[in-house]
Amino acid sequence: TQHFIVIGNPIAHSKSPEIHTLFGAQAGLDICYQRQYCPDDAASFTAVVEAFFHGGGMGANVTVPFKQVAYECCAARGGLSEHAKVAGAVNTLLLDKALLAKGVSPVEALYGDNTDGQGLINHIKRLGWPLNGARVAIIGAGGAARGVVLPLIEAGIETLTIANRTVSKAEILVDELSTASEKINQHTIQTYATAALSGDFDIIINATSIGLSGETLPLADALNCQYAYDMMYGRELPFLQHFAARGAQTSNGYGMLIGQAALSFERWTGRAIDVAQATETLQAHSF
Ligand code: ATR
Repeated sequence: TQHFIVIGNPIAHSKSPEIHTLFGAQAGLDICYQRQYCPDDAASFTAVVEAFFHGGGMGANVTVPFKQVAYECCAARGGLSEHAKVAGAVNTLLLDKALLAKGVSPVEALYGDNTDGQGLINHIKRLGWPLNGARVAIIGAGGAARGVVLPLIEAGIETLTIANRTVSKAEILVDELSTASEKINQHTIQTYATAALSGDFDIIINATSIGLSGETLPLADALNCQYAYDMMYGRELPFLQHFAARGAQTSNGYGMLIGQAALSFERWTGRAIDVAQATETLQAHSF
């Protein structure tokens, strides 16, 4: 049996065990994937991770509020993927096999990746929305926005605009990302206050944490898109209702959740997942 965990706080609501258990069945692998609660401090996180990997654990997912702590942990040990470096956050922990082969201890071989942004790209591709040459706007400038910029640029989008309630945070984000990645630096990324964002985009992505809070974004009447994506999931997201009423195709972020999970699973096991089929099965079970 190969052991995996998802570490978070809170963690009881996480759907990752159901998703990965299904992946395991699809790949014909004997896996055990569990939720792992952790007190909200860096020392506890490190202790949980060390105990898990010393005990033979194969891989772990990291969720709120530990993605930055996980980043620090890996930076000081086995290293980080480019996506994790640019995102400044880790959602997938694994052991660097080359380091293990050199006799390094599991804890020192701890390597961090981030599959969140690529999970979004995979989902948009499954939806059949064109990314190559697309004019894309992201609303939000927090951790969720930070994680999707490099994957979007790698997917061949034409222009990128980032709007945020606090426009200075969007400007800082663009500066930081341009410094962190030459691929991003080669793009000119426009920034706006959310209420001042207008014009026609192919895809608009809601990367704010507003979701189902009941609050709504101040979207200009002159803002339009063909496709609207909300990284949150749940019923009746106001952002999606707004653009659906204007004729756009819409999607919530449930497929992104499954997409990032599939990429983590593939990193750990080397086995590819049929994500469309897995999504159908999960939805049939109301996960
Ligand atoms: P995450 O990791 O989910 O991105 P975050 O880093 O806290 O979370 O970022 C939250 C994002 O949602 C920010 O872009 C934030 O806007 P500000 O930078 O102006 O705070 C945005 N956000 C949260 N609540 C919002 C609201 N009520 N209206 C508009 N934007 C909101």
